[in-house]
This record gives sequence, C-alpha cells and structure tokens, in this order.
Amino acid sequence: MTDTSNLPPIPPEIAALTPYEPGKPIEELERELGISGAIKLASNENPLGPSPKAMEAVRRGAGRLHRYPDGAGFELRQALAARFGLQIDNVCLANGSNEIIEFLCRAFIRPGDDAVAAQYAFSMYEKLVAVAGGVLREVALDDFRIDLEAMLAAVGPRTRLVFVNSPHNPAGTAVTRAQFAAFLERLPGGVVVVVDEAYVDFASDPEALNGLEFLGHAKPVVVMRTFSKAYGLAGLRIGYGLAPAPIVAVFNRVRQAFNTSIPAQEGALAALADEDFLRRSKEITWRGLRDFYACFERLGLWYAPSQANFVLTRVGPRAGEVFDLLLRRGVIVRKMHSYHLPEYLRISVGLPEENARFIGELSDILGGGAA
Ligand SMILES: Cc1ncc(COP(=O)(O)O)c(C=O)c1O
Repeated sequence: MTDTSNLPPIPPEIAALTPYEPGKPIEELERELGISGAIKLASNENPLGPSPKAMEAVRRGAGRLHRYPDGAGFELRQALAARFGLQIDNVCLANGSNEIIEFLCRAFIRPGDDAVAAQYAFSMYEKLVAVAGGVLREVALDDFRIDLEAMLAAVGPRTRLVFVNSPHNPAGTAVTRAQFAAFLERLPGGVVVVVDEAYVDFASDPEALNGLEFLGHAKPVVVMRTFSKAYGLAGLRIGYGLAPAPIVAVFNRVRQAFNTSIPAQEGALAALADEDFLRRSKEITWRGLRDFYACFERLGLWYAPSQANFVLTRVGPRAGEVFDLLLRRGVIVRKMHSYHLPEYLRISVGLPEENARFIGELSDILGGGAA
C-alpha cells in the first residue's frame, strides 16, 4: 500500500476542495430503501431519454472505436457554426460544457487572480478557479435574480473572468438582454465574460439573454452550451463554447488533443439535426413547470418562475424532512442545504406521470398546506 508520507505535499488550496456531490442515483436509493419504481427529479436531466437519432449515431460511431476521434471535431463544429451563423473558428468542442470552464481557468487564471460569479454559483466555477490558484468572488442574488450591477462592482484589478449563469441554476431566473448590454458597456477591459447557457434552450421569455447576440461585442464574451440538457445527452459528455476566434485559438492550446470521443461527436451531430426532439423537450418542460406552479400555488409555497427545466420552491423549515419523506416514497428531488438554502427544494421537470406523482406525494405530505 502507498505510504502517504511518500506523497508530494498536497497544496492547501487543493486539500481545501470538496468532491462534487451528485444527486443520488435511482439504483442506490432503491437498494437503500428496499423499494422499486423510484423516480429522479433531481439532476436537471431530460426525462425523454436520448433522441433515437442520436442513439443510432452513437451505435454507428461505436464501429470506429479503434480509431482516435477527429481532434478538431470538424463536422460537429461546422454544423454548430452553420446553426448559429458563425465561423468554424468561433466554436470549440468540450467534454461537457464543464470543460470550457477548465479551459478558461487554465488559460486566464494565475495565482492571485480572481473571478466573479453570482451567489449559489455552479460549484465547478469555484473549484476550477481555485485549482488554477485564483479565488471566486460570489455576489449576492437580488430576490433570486443575478444582480449585474453588484457583479460589476465586484470586478477588481485582478479579475479575469465573470461568470453569468443565465438561466441561473438553482434559481431558474434569466438575465435580460438589456441588463446584459448595459453591464457589458461598463465592464472594464481585460475581463472575459462567460455566459453559461446550459439551460438556455428552455427559456421562454423573449427578453431572456441569448449570449450569441453579444459574440461580436468589443468586450470578450464566451458562451457555454451543452447537449446534456435539452438534447438529452448528459451521459455522453459533450458541450461546446462559442467565442471570438482568438479565444478559441487559446482554448485549442490548452485543451487535450482528443477531448471529445467519436460517439460524442456523432451523437451530438445527430441530436442537433433532430429538431422534433428539441421541440418535444421544450414542450414537456413548459407543461411540467405549469403543473408545478399550479401545485405550489395551491399549497401556498413560494417559487421562482423558471426559464430552465427545474424550479426552486420554498417549502419552509420542514424542507429537509419533506425531502426525506419524498425519498421514502421513491421521489428523489434536490435539497438545497449545500447551497445554504435549507428551506428550499429544487425539482427537475420529469415526464407528466412523474410530475403528477411528485405533486401527489408532496400534497399528501403537506396535507394541502405549507410545511
Ligand atoms: C449551470 C450549469 N452549468 C454547466 C453545467 C454543465 O453541464 P455539462 O458539463 O453536462 O455540459 C451544468 C450541469 O448541471 C449546470 O448546471
């Protein structure tokens, strides 16, 4: 066995990190509770499953697994560029959009630098900024909305990145394009604005920010997008960044040569063309959100109207207990203790019958009133 005294010293900023805690897998819960037929509304996944066309393409791609993938991801980048009216050198593929955060931190954060993000930021921002020797400054939300004015005030001389997560996870709220335009005008030079749009495909508000519209701005903007959510390919690990060509050129310097696999490239290409699947994903999400809102209103629970595929609701002081009771009834949602929101739960939209089951169990637990 390795004698740990032989390890090189672990830098304190690495020792201080905590491993990411994913939502409980269904199989684990069923084993623990001795139940079957549990449903998971906890990880903002697509309840429709993967697009059949994507699955077929992945199977086709499997026949070439003895080869290395196209490290430049030409076909998928070309298709994405065509879809968004960009040039191929504005597109960078990634092993999930998460990996774009890694490229940004590797390229732009040095010890002593900092990055700015809104409160309850996606934990990967803090982790990857810290690994690069930087510090993430979190700026309080204003009534569960990103406060771009306050974020601007938090930008200092060593700030290199500002993360704007819109729609915001876990709040579900979106920045408007007008707010973003005003923010960009006043932002000092030397800072890259990262618009994390993992959930943007679900946004129904016409005023919601679409970072693409700002790619040509004099201030550098990077848009992160993913096939994990609306396209139902979370397990395939494929996302992308859209950015000015000089930034994509930097990403190409810091990334691994073959960071996206053959099945991931092929599956994403097919998913991108499956417009019917995307339409159904959106429709099922909007319908599910409407059903959740009606339930929360009936139960007198506060919620944040959502532009994403999940909703945050305030259950009250008994939220932790309600979470456990739901679990015992085979319904997995997300509790918000790790976000220091102990009175809240986040529920991802599922299939209509899954949503109905959650609504039924929650109503039963709360006895028709707030906890
Ligand atoms: C806000 C936010 N950004 C980025 C991601 C990363 O998604 P992926 O790496 O699967 O593309 C997630 C995943 O849940 C997320 O919630």
